[in-house]
Amino acid sequence: MTQLSAAQTSADAPRNPDSSKALYGGKGTRRITVRDITAAKERGEKWPMLTAYDAMTASVFDEAGIPVMLVGDSAGNCHLGYETTVPVTLDEMTMLSAAVVRGTSRALIVGDLPFGSYQEGAVQALRSATRLVKGAGVGAVKLEGGERSLAQTELLVQSGIPVMSHLGLTPQSVNTMGYRVQGRGDEAAHRLLRDAKAAQDAGAFAVVLELVPAELAAEVTRSLHIPTVGIGAGSECDAQVLVWTDMMGLTGGRMPRFVKQYAELRNVMAGAAKAFAEDVVGGAFPAAEHAVH
Ligand code: KIV
Repeated sequence: MTQLSAAQTSADAPRNPDSSKALYGGKGTRRITVRDITAAKERGEKWPMLTAYDAMTASVFDEAGIPVMLVGDSAGNCHLGYETTVPVTLDEMTMLSAAVVRGTSRALIVGDLPFGSYQEGAVQALRSATRLVKGAGVGAVKLEGGERSLAQTELLVQSGIPVMSHLGLTPQSVNTMGYRVQGRGDEAAHRLLRDAKAAQDAGAFAVVLELVPAELAAEVTRSLHIPTVGIGAGSECDAQVLVWTDMMGLTGGRMPRFVKQYAELRNVMAGAAKAFAEDVVGGAFPAAEHAVH
């Protein structure tokens, strides 16, 4: 056995006996579906999810093999210049989601239902989700809340729209909840577990757990047959999601502790912008080779 194949075997064996089907690093070229996500949980396979808000960035992540992209309403803070996710509209989410779908060919694209587009009830949720599915081409939608969004989740799933639930810190409730760790203490932990099971029973194919104590997230992950997607929820979740502008160092300012920074894009871009400006002011750009005749 070569060193490479030995390493592959030992890395793959416990979690992923058939690595050709892996969501990340697998050989599939068609677009990933929620059935692939379900199968990954059955195989015990972990997978990554990133947010994306535009076609070009999404195409980079698609080429890098990111299997699931979330057009999150974090676009409010990270792309559209709002202070929170609350002002984001369904029109904006439809436009951004359509761009991400156009920029990708393999990733499952999940579109966020923004605040005010599903809270009135199941029929409103179906109308809004239909716009994201038909108008933008997303393969699934995400909405916040477990028990409180039960009727919405049930109707969407019955209508053929896959739903990802979002529990723990739910940023659309910032005005009542703030940005605090959720699920601390017995009662809150029981409530979160109940919410997760309610989402699963209503037909959700996955549950995001945001800012939840790691031990509780691990318990939820063990209790569900659908995958958990953690953000600030420890290492035991089936999948992990990060906001791309945070993890690549574009956002700026103080980052939450759970964000690992994989690049320094803000510095790289500022450096390039300054170099361009200095070249223009100093007359170094355009040079002869940039001129057309
Ligand atoms: O909107 C978003 O980006 C999200 C993730 C943080 C899960 O909901």
